[in-house]
Amino acid sequence: MKYGHFDDDNREYVITNPATPFPWINYLGNEDFFSLISNTAGGYSFYKDAKFRRLNRYRYNNVPMDDGGRYFYIKDGDSVWNPGWKPSKTELDKYECRHGMNYTKIKGEKNGISAEVLFFVPLNTWAEIQKVTLTNTSNEAKKFKFFSYNEWALWNAASDMENFQRNFNTGEVEVEDSVIYHKTEYRERRNHFAYYSVNTEIDGFDTDRETFVGLYNSHEKPQVVLAGQPENSMAHGWSPIASHYIEVELNPGEAKDLIFVLGYVENQEDDKWESKGVINKTKAKEVIAKFNTTAKVEVAFEELRAYWDDILNVFTLESGDDRLDRQVNIWNQYQCMITFNFSRSASYFESGIGRGMGFRDSNQDLLGFVHQAPDRARQRVIDIASTQFPDGGCYHQYQPLTKRGNDEVGGGFNDDPMWLILGVTSYIKESGDYTILDEMVPFDNDESLSQTMFNHLTISFNHVINNLGPNKLPLIGRADWNDCLNLNCFSKDPNESFQTTENNSEGSKAESLMIAGLFVYYGRDYIELCKVLNKNEEATRAQKEVDAMVNAIKENGWDGEWFLRAYDFYGNKIGSKENEEGKIFIESNGWCTMASIGAEEGMCEKALDSVKERLDTKYGIVLNNPAYTKYHIEMGEISTYPPGYKENAGIFCHNNPWIMIGETELGRGDIAYDYYTKIAPAFIEDIQELHKTEPYVYSQMIAGKDAFKPGEAKNSWLTGTAAWNYAAITQHILGIRPALQGLLIDPCIPTKWDGFKVKRKFRGYTLNIEVQNPNHVSKGVREITIDGTKIEGNLIPVLTEGKEYDVIVTLG
Ligand code: BGC
Repeated sequence: MKYGHFDDDNREYVITNPATPFPWINYLGNEDFFSLISNTAGGYSFYKDAKFRRLNRYRYNNVPMDDGGRYFYIKDGDSVWNPGWKPSKTELDKYECRHGMNYTKIKGEKNGISAEVLFFVPLNTWAEIQKVTLTNTSNEAKKFKFFSYNEWALWNAASDMENFQRNFNTGEVEVEDSVIYHKTEYRERRNHFAYYSVNTEIDGFDTDRETFVGLYNSHEKPQVVLAGQPENSMAHGWSPIASHYIEVELNPGEAKDLIFVLGYVENQEDDKWESKGVINKTKAKEVIAKFNTTAKVEVAFEELRAYWDDILNVFTLESGDDRLDRQVNIWNQYQCMITFNFSRSASYFESGIGRGMGFRDSNQDLLGFVHQAPDRARQRVIDIASTQFPDGGCYHQYQPLTKRGNDEVGGGFNDDPMWLILGVTSYIKESGDYTILDEMVPFDNDESLSQTMFNHLTISFNHVINNLGPNKLPLIGRADWNDCLNLNCFSKDPNESFQTTENNSEGSKAESLMIAGLFVYYGRDYIELCKVLNKNEEATRAQKEVDAMVNAIKENGWDGEWFLRAYDFYGNKIGSKENEEGKIFIESNGWCTMASIGAEEGMCEKALDSVKERLDTKYGIVLNNPAYTKYHIEMGEISTYPPGYKENAGIFCHNNPWIMIGETELGRGDIAYDYYTKIAPAFIEDIQELHKTEPYVYSQMIAGKDAFKPGEAKNSWLTGTAAWNYAAITQHILGIRPALQGLLIDPCIPTKWDGFKVKRKFRGYTLNIEVQNPNHVSKGVREITIDGTKIEGNLIPVLTEGKEYDVIVTLG
């Protein structure tokens, strides 16, 4: 069964059945103010930080699922319905939800009334606009009652769900004209409030939840809506809400727009009050006035569209396959922006409370985002580097609001430093801006400890070589990329966090082949950077270290048919044919083949053949095999997941591209592309019911072959999968790869392809690239011409800003 379809011309996914297998969501907002919105209008908004500045209450893991959002109720005679079907679930005559680039349109129709709501956050605005268009589609006049509804969160989403003895006393609101203001805690330590307005006179309102919903009712049947009569309630403590009541009359064919604004305001400390106890509403009124007509809203919406046109014009593919084009040109790029904005904080699988911005995660996210807005990526990478420790270790996470490292999680994840090299070099490769290396960047957010960004990179590189184990391989610390391979944890206590507990790390021999491969791969980028900067001594020193690591991997990290995964605390092998479970892992085989370690000796080919044989499945490549079936205390969380899920032999979509890239290094374009299409959402649209999560974005994990339901996905949206798949397809399969000295063209495509075309904007100029594959090879550039002139090699050097060039690439 299918629940919707792609509309590529509008860059939308169109959902036609509201009862999707899981809420299918979208994200609104781009810089400071954000919203999550499901296909039935569930979700919430926040300013910058989903934990500390939550505007609306959302109950995760609730029954029913996805209960809470911005709801509009229409009471037409005895019938009560919502344009997004929920929460009343009254059957609609028509329903459609269109998720687009940072906007969502939800339309419901019932008994001759159509209600269409456009939700979006205008650029540079701290507010969500909800433009409701009500149309009388019947032949008779219609008179009905219209209610808005939104429940306020008391700002801190964590304490909002816990500290009821306090929370039930603090709630405060004001109502003035058609605007409901939420000002809980404003009179003490907060200088911010929220508001919910509508651009028409209202016929009543409610601000107290129990009055509106009824203590024994639910959102499905709020008391006030059933009664068709607001109570004009004022919240004093308990649970404040905002509901407007409007009586609507429409002649046949007549339409009317109601514009709601849900916004956030911050005032200066000395400018907080209009009069005693009355908040200063000036800024809110300015925003409301800015969007109080349909025409103004339409202009703002066009601006948002134009913004996305610009972003998506940087890389445009014409491959001849709609699925690939929509993946590369629209949805994968969109998801990359979302992961850049949210890291792993707020989705329908991430509560917005648990995790802030991840050090490793956000650096990897840059890979898929940097071409969209390099200046934003620049700031981000500086923010991230500022949370590094002076010895090169890193805070594993930081809060977006404060940009400070998260003490509860701390550091000790020994892959983290290398990802900074990825982040910074990706930025330079895209932008050509080397000045970032001279920026003075703090350690541990302490300005007095600032050093240049270049030094941060050196210190990152050194962190790995300063922490080698008995096999001359990198010590793993708390974990490497695989958060669940906790080799120094040894936990027997279910209340301990696997990730932050080290019960046994003194004298540990736990080493990681994944970090080893990562070090070689990005170590080479570091060396190249040193060379470009004429830091030749440093380049030579670094080269020696990289060579030493390559040797250590060949000597101590090769298992005969594939690369080992790790050594445990005692120095025993993990990911070896000697093991009963977990004989082979994806990560080390990905990174070591990406870095072509032992390629001359045939190691890469063997390793990738083993991956194909042992890890490949119909739905993607599983992380390890055989799955762990019992708890291995010396390995930690990985063995706690039932077989086939998450890091225990799930298809972890984040690292499938590492194998794809490894395959392109070998020149096996058919296999690389086959792996790509197995997990790319647009290619698996037909299995929506099994797949469950949104068919337009990647999920973190698809259940593996050992799972109860192989092919079922979980944890959509916020995953490094977005950036890595985008990198795999654009940079390695299509092979259009930013490099320090220009744009490298090195495709590795399926042999049956005749070629493809890409329009690439790069460093201020435009390249119309046509790749021709007359001999049906996978890899190997025979000739490149720029505007008819042949160039040497396959690196397009830096060209002239503002110009457009035609590039013909012939393979074979
Ligand atoms: C985390 C990543 C981690 C991955 C694999 C994700 O949930 O955000 O940092 O690398 O899991 O364990």
